[in-house]
Amino acid sequence: MLTQAQEQIIETTAPVVAEHLDAITQRFYPLMFERYPEVASLFNQAHQQDGGQPRALAGAILAYVKLRQTPETARQTLETVVNKHVSLDIQPDQYPIVGECLMAAIGEVLGEAVTPDVADAWTALYNELAGLLIELEEQRYQAFADRHGGWRGTRRFRIADTRQESRVIRSFILEPEDGGAVAEHAPGQFIGVKLEIDGKPVYRHYSLSDVPNGRSYRVSIKREPGGVASGYFHDRLDVGDTVELLPPAGELTLAQGEEPLLLVNCTPKVGHHPTFGVFLMAKYDESFKLRVIQQCLREDISQGEVARQYGVDVSTIRQWLATYRQHGVSGLRKKYSHHSAAFKREVLERMWRDGLSQRQAAALFDIRERSAIGRWERQYHSGGLTALEPQRKGRRPMSKKPPSPPLPDKERSQEALLKELAYLRAENAYLKSSMP
Ligand SMILES: Cc1cc2nc3c(=O)[nH]c(=O)nc-3n(C[C@H](O)[C@H](O)[C@H](O)COP(=O)(O)OP(=O)(O)OC[C@H]3O[C@@H](n4cnc5c(N)ncnc54)[C@H](O)[C@@H]3O)c2cc1C
Ligand code: HEM
Repeated sequence: MLTQAQEQIIETTAPVVAEHLDAITQRFYPLMFERYPEVASLFNQAHQQDGGQPRALAGAILAYVKLRQTPETARQTLETVVNKHVSLDIQPDQYPIVGECLMAAIGEVLGEAVTPDVADAWTALYNELAGLLIELEEQRYQAFADRHGGWRGTRRFRIADTRQESRVIRSFILEPEDGGAVAEHAPGQFIGVKLEIDGKPVYRHYSLSDVPNGRSYRVSIKREPGGVASGYFHDRLDVGDTVELLPPAGELTLAQGEEPLLLVNCTPKVGHHPTFGVFLMAKYDESFKLRVIQQCLREDISQGEVARQYGVDVSTIRQWLATYRQHGVSGLRKKYSHHSAAFKREVLERMWRDGLSQRQAAALFDIRERSAIGRWERQYHSGGLTALEPQRKGRRPMSKKPPSPPLPDKERSQEALLKELAYLRAENAYLKSSMP
């Protein structure tokens, strides 16, 4: 619990810490690896080179300064960290190590600005966040251990089968060495793999690429040029060899009111090359889309390979990416919308004027139904702008009265006349622009 004085100190010093985040991060990791070499293997050394992942830890602590004001949002936001930690079996006794080295790095970088009071305030903030993460992680460890086929810590799995999916991707079917059941995973989850390569532990994550079956997991691994773990899987592991697995993570949560995901097992073929036996989800929720997008953005892996891994067609992924770039995470949320004729017209006009593809226009206007724009275009061509009016669903009730004839212009309201004028102008403009 932070005192009021400490809260004040955090507020005034947070901008200084933010300004020096990179320098603090650059000092923190070497310092921790030097003092506590036993935790170094948990961290992917390739990630240390690009800087983004290392900065995430210190960045999360800084973000917590604001997040802690809304505890429920804080818990939800920390889910990605919890997922990563759980899949690496991070333990409570490792938190003081990170805390000590982080404070030492802050002290070295900020020098005399870190008075004892400032140091105490940041230590208290770190401890509060560490306590929250430890609690959330314990809940996840326990919940998974309690499930049928679940376990805690590492569990040894034997490679029961392998399949070369493409020139660079190989799938591995992993069955528990103890012969027991395996807990079912949710679509889109990944698993932590602990290997021992040349006497040293190596941790990596792989998405589970098969439908749950209660007996085994499947991972599909792309060979990275110079990659330690993927190279080991491809060149040195075969049927009968064993690896250790950590609990699956990356839980998918269904938004309130959303229907359960429908799993359909299928093995699509592309030409003569069998691709991954994948599972399709009839409905994709926000976190699944986000995971697919993150994979496309962060991994050195083509969109086609991500599409095969997750069982989503590549054009759907491209649309998610375009929408994500335009509207961020909120663009990935489910949206039920009934578009007015005016909106549809605006979309079509913008698309024609700027020469946009349907996908680009859909992303720009945040239209989730991919086929909608093509349908609107066809409706427009067949019936003009009035055909864009939303159609009532189902059979229209029979009307006994014949339709009333349109009112003469002088009896119609100015608003109705202006509306029709706008329609006619737009129609005229489109007809002109489509003439050879
Ligand atoms: C949630 C999640 C799910 C994932 N799912 C999958 C999946 O389903 N399938 C899959 O194939 N991968 C997946 N990955 C990626 C996977 O975890 C590994 O990152 C990937 O296999 C590469 O690991 P590696 O040990 O082979 O390569 P690394 O040894 O980590 O190297 C990666 C690249 O960095 C270069 N490199 C290494 N060290 C250095 C250095 N010191 N300096 C400069 N460059 C260096 C290497 O040459 C290589 O090109 C997933 C990752 C995450 C986070
Ligand atoms: C309050 C303390 C901590 C915070 C705020 C924190 C935050 C983070 C964040 C934001 C990530 C990136 C998540 C992602 O990639 O999606 C991460 C990853 C990671 N964390 Fe933590 N963490 C903390 C403590 C710890 C501790 C105690 C350990 C154990 C030594 C640890 C080990 C790791 C490892 C190994 C990774 C993955 C790194 C990689 O991929 O190279 N973290 N953490």
